[in-house]
Amino acid sequence: MTSSNQIYPVLWHHDKVSLIDQTRLPNEYEVVEISRCEDMAQAIRTMIVRGAPAIGVAAAYGMYLGARDIQTSDRDSFLKELESVANLLRQTRPTAVNLFWAISRMLKTAYETIGTVEEIRANLFKTAQEIHSEDLQTCKAIGANGLAVLPSKPDKLTILTHCNTGSLATAGYGTALGVIRSAWYGGRLARVYADETRPRLQGAKLTAWECVQEGIPVTLITDSMAAHCMKQGLIDAAIVGADRIAANGDTANKIGTYSLAVVAKMHNVPFFVAAPLSTIDFDLPNGDSIPIEERHPSEIYRIGETTICPGGVEFYNPAFDVTNAELITAIITEKGAVKPGELSSLLARR
Ligand code: MRU
Repeated sequence: MTSSNQIYPVLWHHDKVSLIDQTRLPNEYEVVEISRCEDMAQAIRTMIVRGAPAIGVAAAYGMYLGARDIQTSDRDSFLKELESVANLLRQTRPTAVNLFWAISRMLKTAYETIGTVEEIRANLFKTAQEIHSEDLQTCKAIGANGLAVLPSKPDKLTILTHCNTGSLATAGYGTALGVIRSAWYGGRLARVYADETRPRLQGAKLTAWECVQEGIPVTLITDSMAAHCMKQGLIDAAIVGADRIAANGDTANKIGTYSLAVVAKMHNVPFFVAAPLSTIDFDLPNGDSIPIEERHPSEIYRIGETTICPGGVEFYNPAFDVTNAELITAIITEKGAVKPGELSSLLARR
């Protein structure tokens, strides 16, 4: 399998982090340079960088940037200030567990380093780079494992996806879009149907852009067209990513995923979730307690510069929903694909 994909949303370069500004794509390609943890927190909050695994990688570098600026050589004072950096980053986005996972892993590195503050800093940098490079390898493994469980017929599949789960949402390559990429390079893909993904339009702006960059045939539909497309027999499988998967397989992902899973069930379309193990929150027994981010209502009352509704209405803007495990055919991870009820079997493979 080969890929010409060269999109890296997060890069460490000249002692700074370079982020592709995902709020400007597809019309403008701009790179933002980040050298302070406060700026990284803001970049995560404003979705310059987004997508659960990419948020984890960005947060790991954010921890290092914060550690770099701590002005003490006393270990205890340093660790106390590092906890404040962690808290700042934790307050950016609540749903993607990769954020919290990456911050915990960075803190663990700090506490487990027996040495000077300078040595702790060096190990923090090493861990951030590990989190970054591991994610790329993880995505490629998810792609290969996903390819193995796709429906065997027809030879070339038409796959529907939601939001953006590609290179832009990870260290590179992608999760659900990574499986789609693997299907493309494995000769198993006819076409991608990309939901536009209201209100932030990650499907229209980012997934469609990635597919066009790579020559993958893509058809853009609005979210409300997915049921109709399935009823017409246009879709062979649906694959989405995840922001947090509870121990029983209930899956939080971009708003609209749940309704997609319901209509997929209705039309016997297999519905796959692709995500790294770092997205599974084994501490939560089910999806009821997954925190769901609510974002500013301007995301729904405005399209571009235009306000689309009258004054006097109220708004509700949850950014994620939770899909019940029973609606999911399989969860595809870097350690293999399992039924949602069998997630715990992956623990032994970690
Ligand atoms: O709000 P976003 O754009 O960060 O939401 C992204 C998603 O919901 C993705 O599907 C999920 O993070 C998986 S990305 C590989």
